[in-house]
Amino acid sequence: MPKAFYVTTPIYYVNDKPHIGHAYTTIACDVLARFKRLDGYDVKFLTGTDEHGQKVAKAAAEKGVTPQEICDLNSQTFRDVAKNLGISNDDFIRTTEPRHIAACQALWKRLEENGQIYLDKYAGWYAVRDEAFYDEGELTKGPNGEKLAPTGAPVEWVEEESYFFPLSKWQDKLLALYDANPDFIGPKSRFNEIYSFVKGGLNDLSISRTAFSWGVPVPGNPKHVMYVWIDALTNYITGLGYPDESGEMAKFWPKTDPVALHVVGKDIIRFHCVYWPAFLMAANLPLPRRVFGQGWWTVEGQKMSKSLGNAIDPNALIEKYGRDQLRFFLLREIPYGNDGDFSEAAIAGRINGELANAFGNLAQRFLSFIAKNLGGVLPEPGPLTDADKELLGACRSLADQCREAFERQAFHDALEAIFVVVRAANGYVDVQAPWALKKTDPARMSTVLYVLAECTRHLAILMQPFTPDATAKLLDQLAVPEGERTFAFLGPDHALKGGATLPAPQGVFPRYGDPPKAAGKGA
Ligand code: MSP
Repeated sequence: MPKAFYVTTPIYYVNDKPHIGHAYTTIACDVLARFKRLDGYDVKFLTGTDEHGQKVAKAAAEKGVTPQEICDLNSQTFRDVAKNLGISNDDFIRTTEPRHIAACQALWKRLEENGQIYLDKYAGWYAVRDEAFYDEGELTKGPNGEKLAPTGAPVEWVEEESYFFPLSKWQDKLLALYDANPDFIGPKSRFNEIYSFVKGGLNDLSISRTAFSWGVPVPGNPKHVMYVWIDALTNYITGLGYPDESGEMAKFWPKTDPVALHVVGKDIIRFHCVYWPAFLMAANLPLPRRVFGQGWWTVEGQKMSKSLGNAIDPNALIEKYGRDQLRFFLLREIPYGNDGDFSEAAIAGRINGELANAFGNLAQRFLSFIAKNLGGVLPEPGPLTDADKELLGACRSLADQCREAFERQAFHDALEAIFVVVRAANGYVDVQAPWALKKTDPARMSTVLYVLAECTRHLAILMQPFTPDATAKLLDQLAVPEGERTFAFLGPDHALKGGATLPAPQGVFPRYGDPPKAAGKGA
């Protein structure tokens, strides 16, 4: 039985268009999903849109359209961007779908049956931008003396009848969960943040609203709609068929040995690491395995925002740099979990320095040599020298290094390990100088070329999750059959066969900034 892996993105608010911050989370999840599929796991990858709540209702009113219209329009935009980014999601959930409304109502009823919901009155502060309640003590003052949420979002005073979830009663259970599962939250800094927040005591949570109607009706009292976060978090189990607890729920949300990974921004870890596990425990449902809180991107040193008008459209970046290049850059540039700054200089530097000059050039050097001098036939290797063995050994240890890094969502570590080998392989070409061996020692030349091809096969297979288009082309050029591109083929029993005819080489990582006709020729 293959092992199961379930990965989810946050579902995105449809009040606005997708920008590079959203694309970042989705790309990270796509890379995780592709990696696990290549490693033999049975993977489910879910993304989607968060369509209810005051924020979306307000955005619709401002545009003079109905909430459903803005949802339909912007949800499609998120779907289109995902397609353009090459995202391999297995499902796309919209919270306005009947399957989701049914799941939310089933979860609500279950909480109610378990005595986990009570009716009272909420009087306090609410920030529509964050869709979050705040205590007086958390607020700060804006430049004009106005009250602001700690995130800088404006707050309004809300007083209404509301259903509550007794979150305060779950403090000990949550702390016990974190103590028993130190990997439940990553990176470590986020774990510590959540731990001390919960340790500081929890207030009961208002989980319904009556001031507006754009939400999932509360069963038995449709004057109330569910608080958008209880609705949104439920998407992770709607996507598995909840309330049906057999099928995908049993597989990807098992009672023991959880397999689900929620990747979210650091801004929303409290919802995922405190509220969500408390709801699940209160409903006697199993828990996810881990929540990872990624950092935030700024743009050329500035926070991305609607008012500054500097939110970057991922489609424009794909158009300009290429989608593999964008995917690679975002995960290579900064340690996953940290904040980062997007700049044109940084992306161009990564594309040219690493994809084109280092990786692309490595492949093109020996592939065009084989095409020109050996009629495109991959040579048979002769006896291996220590240098050959060292390079091949480094390649063979890569998959495990990547697996270990992926367990921590440390894409940067996996990529660094891969690029250590890319650099070693380029050094190997320089030292072995196959072009000089052509006249002096053709047998040795053949071995060197073979070692380079085999090394590139490893690198390309492991780079597939990051740069799927380019590596597919590269593996075609190495004549690696489509069914032999998984990590199972990186083991000691598999290697390229000498004598294979290779297709005509073609650059897969063009330099950025070269005139268009040069694109495709590699470096
Ligand atoms: N709808 C909620 C999530 C519900 S999940 C059950 C939400 N949506 S959001 O559209 O506002 O943002 C979702 C995510 O987008 C953030 O958590 C984060 O992962 C990502 N990002 C949004 N802006 C970002 C940056 N500037 N940088 C990096 N990621 C950012 O919150």
